[in-house]
Amino acid sequence: METPLQKADRHIQENKQNVNERYRLRYHLMPEAGWMNDPNGFSFYGGKYHLFYQLHPYGSVWGPMHWGHATSEDLVRWEHAPVALAPDTDADGGGCFSGTAMEVEGRHVLMYTGLQLEGDGDDRKVHQVQCLAFGDGKSYEKSLQNPVIPKEKIPEGVVKADVRDPKLFERNGMYYCILGSKDLEQKGVFLLYRSADLMEWECMGTMDAADEVNGGVWECPDHFRMDGKDILLVSPQFKKPESLRYHNIHSTCARIGTLDLEKGRFLLEQEEEIDAGFDFYAPQTLEDGQGRRIMVAWMQMWERNMPSNEEKHGWAGAMTFPRILWMQDGRLHQLPVPEIESSRRNRYMAEAEFSGTWTQEPLRGNVSELLVEFETLEAEAFGVKLFAGQEEETVFRYDVKEEVLIFDRRRSGIVLRGSRKELAGSGVRRTQLKARNGKVTMRFLLDRTSVEAFLNGGEKAMTGTVYPSEGSDRMVLFAEGKVKVRLEKYDLIF
Ligand code: FRU
Repeated sequence: METPLQKADRHIQENKQNVNERYRLRYHLMPEAGWMNDPNGFSFYGGKYHLFYQLHPYGSVWGPMHWGHATSEDLVRWEHAPVALAPDTDADGGGCFSGTAMEVEGRHVLMYTGLQLEGDGDDRKVHQVQCLAFGDGKSYEKSLQNPVIPKEKIPEGVVKADVRDPKLFERNGMYYCILGSKDLEQKGVFLLYRSADLMEWECMGTMDAADEVNGGVWECPDHFRMDGKDILLVSPQFKKPESLRYHNIHSTCARIGTLDLEKGRFLLEQEEEIDAGFDFYAPQTLEDGQGRRIMVAWMQMWERNMPSNEEKHGWAGAMTFPRILWMQDGRLHQLPVPEIESSRRNRYMAEAEFSGTWTQEPLRGNVSELLVEFETLEAEAFGVKLFAGQEEETVFRYDVKEEVLIFDRRRSGIVLRGSRKELAGSGVRRTQLKARNGKVTMRFLLDRTSVEAFLNGGEKAMTGTVYPSEGSDRMVLFAEGKVKVRLEKYDLIF
């Protein structure tokens, strides 16, 4: 008899040839076929990077969740591995939701949320319970003790149907697990649990919470330490905008402070938006063999149209390119991992002073990297148009007086609409950015239907999907007033 895992693998093998190539990316991880959302179990194990992800193998829309799996030696080239988890036990029959991974005594341990089904028909209830699976980097066995955090261990005061996305970690010989949920007033919360053996878990209560009603769950916790601080990554559903921040349908934030594991409380010092673009959610991090902290996120957004699934392309969803994280001036910084540089070909360099628009023949491409340093001589605004064609352009514009960087994808190609009416729904996002000695740097990774922008050496990032027509691949610089630029452009080859 074919198991649910074998069936999922067979389905993918049979369907991957039929996937429409039109919007496929070249160097971002995508499902071979089917739907992908959150990164899961992002970890360095057995000398390799492992990236699992929320997968629905049987369609290009969300459905009963499996864990897809890919591995890489350099974070650039990914190899697909067999599906790691399918919903096939009493504890997770409705789906295997997001979670994390760590190495314990040589084994690769996955902790995930099972959708446990109770009853059937109209009376059917779905509980979110926490489960474990153990593996060797290739195949994974679920614990017979699942769920290790059953519904009875969810404390009062939270919406019990929404307790998910375990972040598993170890400190001083104890295991800890952070779960995302919301309280009865609809404020997002993180719960903290601890265990000596991964099997028996004790709830330590609410470790961190939203201070305003966001109406949704604090999803997909991540936690790491850096420069003596504890950093929590949070994906709060429906977070309310604050000045220019958090205008996405669902935003993500880094909460920097101190986690007191004795008391089970997080003391917040400062919070920032992780990515000020459109398509960035549910980020996870790992520490690799070189001690680097690396982040990936789902490069898509809930409740917005996704051309690849709407037009029956047979797939949907991708991961961001992996980014290295560090703290600088008290803020989290991010840049693409340097491994991308091994794919650079055909370097083009130029310097110019101009006003109006400026371009050169080599400035085209849609699987490319572009690095520009602008220095304002007497300009009010300047920037770059990417994926430019007859009537299309994806614009990054810097307003010198306002000190604001604007990412405008209203004329990028297929119009992407969101369900929220704020800026993100209209195709424009803005972020505060200070020029340094009159200079602003912009670095772009382009991959056919995506752009990731890194500003001022990683101080800010803005990510978005775009769906230009074939042939819209020009890069044009513009300035309202006079600027000086220095640039480098590469084709990226894989
Ligand atoms: C976040 C999320 C998680 C959940 C998963 C389900 O994008 O909603 O909270 O585990 O997706 O696919």
